[in-house]
Amino acid sequence: MKHTIKPALAGILLSMITALTLHAAQPSINITSFGTLPDGRSTQLYTLTNSQGAQISVTNFGGIITRIIVPDREGRLGDVALGYENVEKYVAGHPYFGAIIGRYGNRIAAGKFTLDGKDYTLFTNNDPGGIPCSLHGGKIGFDKVLWDVTPFLTKDAAGLKLRYLSKDGEEGYPGNLDVTVTYTFTNNNEIRIDYFATTDKATPCNLTNHSYFNLAGEGSGTILNHVLTLNASKLTVVDAGLIPTGKHVPVKGTPFDFTTPHAIGARVNTPGDEQLKFGGGYDHNFVLDRTLPGLFKAAEVYEPVTGRVMEILTEEPGIQFYCGNFLDGTNIGKSQIPYTYRTGFALETQHFPDSPNQKDKQAFPSTILRPGEKYRTTTIYRFSAR
Ligand code: BGC
Repeated sequence: MKHTIKPALAGILLSMITALTLHAAQPSINITSFGTLPDGRSTQLYTLTNSQGAQISVTNFGGIITRIIVPDREGRLGDVALGYENVEKYVAGHPYFGAIIGRYGNRIAAGKFTLDGKDYTLFTNNDPGGIPCSLHGGKIGFDKVLWDVTPFLTKDAAGLKLRYLSKDGEEGYPGNLDVTVTYTFTNNNEIRIDYFATTDKATPCNLTNHSYFNLAGEGSGTILNHVLTLNASKLTVVDAGLIPTGKHVPVKGTPFDFTTPHAIGARVNTPGDEQLKFGGGYDHNFVLDRTLPGLFKAAEVYEPVTGRVMEILTEEPGIQFYCGNFLDGTNIGKSQIPYTYRTGFALETQHFPDSPNQKDKQAFPSTILRPGEKYRTTTIYRFSAR
């Protein structure tokens, strides 16, 4: 007897095989040139694709995540990260889009701190309210250095290990700080970031990532309709220079209460709120409601039009929520669309701002890394849709 497969059946079999093949796609990494730095060094772009076809791209310049391509509720892929298409545009200047931040994420008052009886002076590169401070590592922070990159693949993820040795005295900080940041992009659309560092002299160390998100798609307009939940019932309130006053203040009854979901734009322009005035909107560190060490769900953001959801889990005690108040259209994104006022937001997991200078060590946990100790912390950005 001759075996024949009817055309309809053949079609079904073919689509089953295609579906299986698509499903069984292994994570992969593609490396391309990302342009040349002014000093002649070349940069690369690493594109990590997971088994679902979602992607992130990372350059060795600043460890910057340049693209995050994830599905919406219909399965349509879209880029939810603000960024540029080549290194030249990053070199020309940008407000830390997607970059690794260090040695110290956030502000250090007046660019000064005292450690073990010795005074240190940092470059002051920021002056909110006309009051100078050191922000995000100083003049040439970890966002502007070239990292050594080692790609790796497993059946569950594509990843990159980035390493940078920050020399003793760099940007005014003491000690050789040996830093490894590992990006793992999993088949579940999670970006897992593992930070690791050791030092040979005591130094402040507070590392984070400064991605700006727009879950409706970069360049698609305002982020004010995104719905945010923050598992944080307190805020480290700031002065006019955006330096914490030292107090943790409850968010209850204020525009900062995101313990239940609220649109970012619902209360951002509340008249008469001093904290909103100082930040020009949300630009504040929230104290997470964790009771135990380990990964804690700090935030969830939902974008109603696309259904995209981003959850943030972290081992850190705080998260800076910045709603893009300083974006003014001067940064032209990778789609050649200007990033205007509040068209991207950042959620930076971290220890609290200005901790090296804060008196209350209970309220501001130590950010000092000492020789022999290991700095180790993990944050996960998980993307889905509903
Ligand atoms: C800060 C903002 C700053 C932005 C970009 C955020 O982490 O909180 O004040 O404008 O980074 O530099």
